[in-house]
Amino acid sequence: MSEYTLETGQTILELSYLVAAILFVIGLKRLSHPETAKRGNLYAGVGMLLAMITTLVLHKNVHGQSIPLSNAILIILVIAIGTVIGSVIARRVKMTAMPQLVSFYNATGGAASGLVALMEFGNPDNSSALVTLLGLIIGNVAFSGSMVAYGKLDGWIKDWRSPLMKYINLAMLALVAGITVYLLVVPEPVFGAMAILYLLFTISLVYGVFFVMPIGGADMPVVISLLNSFTGIAAAMAGFIYNNQAMILGGIFVGAAGTILTILMCRAMNRSLLNVIIGAFGGGGAAAAVNQEIGIIKEISLSDASVLLNYTSKVVIVPGYGLAAAQAQHTCSELDKLLTERGVEVKYAIHPVAGRMPGHMNVLLAEADVPYEKLVEMDDINPELPNTDVVIVIGANDVVNPAAHDDPSSPIYGMPIINAHEAKNIIVMKRGMGKGYAAIENYLFYNDKTRMLFGNAKETLQKLVAEIKNL
Ligand code: TAP
Repeated sequence: MSEYTLETGQTILELSYLVAAILFVIGLKRLSHPETAKRGNLYAGVGMLLAMITTLVLHKNVHGQSIPLSNAILIILVIAIGTVIGSVIARRVKMTAMPQLVSFYNATGGAASGLVALMEFGNPDNSSALVTLLGLIIGNVAFSGSMVAYGKLDGWIKDWRSPLMKYINLAMLALVAGITVYLLVVPEPVFGAMAILYLLFTISLVYGVFFVMPIGGADMPVVISLLNSFTGIAAAMAGFIYNNQAMILGGIFVGAAGTILTILMCRAMNRSLLNVIIGAFGGGGAAAAVNQEIGIIKEISLSDASVLLNYTSKVVIVPGYGLAAAQAQHTCSELDKLLTERGVEVKYAIHPVAGRMPGHMNVLLAEADVPYEKLVEMDDINPELPNTDVVIVIGANDVVNPAAHDDPSSPIYGMPIINAHEAKNIIVMKRGMGKGYAAIENYLFYNDKTRMLFGNAKETLQKLVAEIKNL
């Protein structure tokens, strides 16, 4: 092949990566608003497709050789299988299982990077052994950690804590660091480099499990976003291994977005990141979950609730996981429209960790065409709550639990909440006295101003809408 063709191919490849990077940036920007998010996803997807096609056709290794045809066929086959499986799962998944699916996909990204690093370690064409080892460690932690998070969100893995966990985790981290340095500085390790590499591979997988296992209760959002950033960083490392700009950029975008989200989640939960990394928090739940007599539960009838809502001037809805589980967003939006038509001011109070994934409530309510301006962030709505006539808590629990303010023994103590207890009247819609994700008692339900409206959120909302229409 002539030098001219080689250089032209390389230039086209790099230009295509530039276009892909621009599409990633536009996509990310558009993802920040529900109205533009769908298109943003499409832009980023097209960018990735472009990068994959041009890499397949134009990539040359350091010796100037193209991807062999047999490998190209294998790659296309694997992409086709992955695409079919991925799209079938994504189409079939229930909206309520979306958080688990996101964790699972995150795990696959980590696994891919870890495996790339495993295969490429020792390849003399690679620029840096350190980057390869980091890709392997971070990718593996992201994989096994995300699989545990997947199991926890799906309910088949329970939190597992031991006072020793913190020390075991620290010991494993030290071991991982020690083995990494050993592999880097000793040219011919005892038992051979590959045996030591497999040991590192295994320990980092085990660390991922131990790292996420004790984290539970209301602290999962922090760890989920942290794992997300790990996957991005691992993908960037894999990009460095192959000196592939599109992979580096894509990985850095995911890593940076995940890191920013982690910081936001830490702030939302009032937790320090260091505690997350050594798996120290999430404890104390058992002690605080002790069921104590803290008051009596008062119910409200549908007709009383409809009168209260119809003849009031300001209502704030606090949506939570139960709204998503009941798929009640459309009925909730119907109630909102009805009350608005009758002159009631209606807003939504959005807690950053309500539901089971970042932005869960925003996505859910956007799907039901609730105007974005009505969704008010926690810090902005809290000062308005003392002047709110009625707060309707729909399937939310932990995010309105005043134990976060009043009970130092509570595992959620210190977590900022929506101050629903400060409103003049509180209506709580849930099926029974089931606990929230943090599995602790909620003092709000026993508040003098609180009235419970028991039942599945969707059915209760439907009946409430019908009652109000009859007034
Ligand atoms: P939760 O505290 O989980 O409470 C949800 C409540 O909804 C439950 O108490 C349940 O009570 C009720 N519910 C369930 N299905 C219902 C239905 N069909 N109809 C009516 N009510 C129903 O929810 P939250 O307040 O949104 O808090 C979120 C929790 O999840 C936080 O602890 C958060 O840290 C954690 N978490 C969040 C994320 C992210 S990133 N957002 C990720 C992982 C974990 P009944 O059983 O009595 O109905």
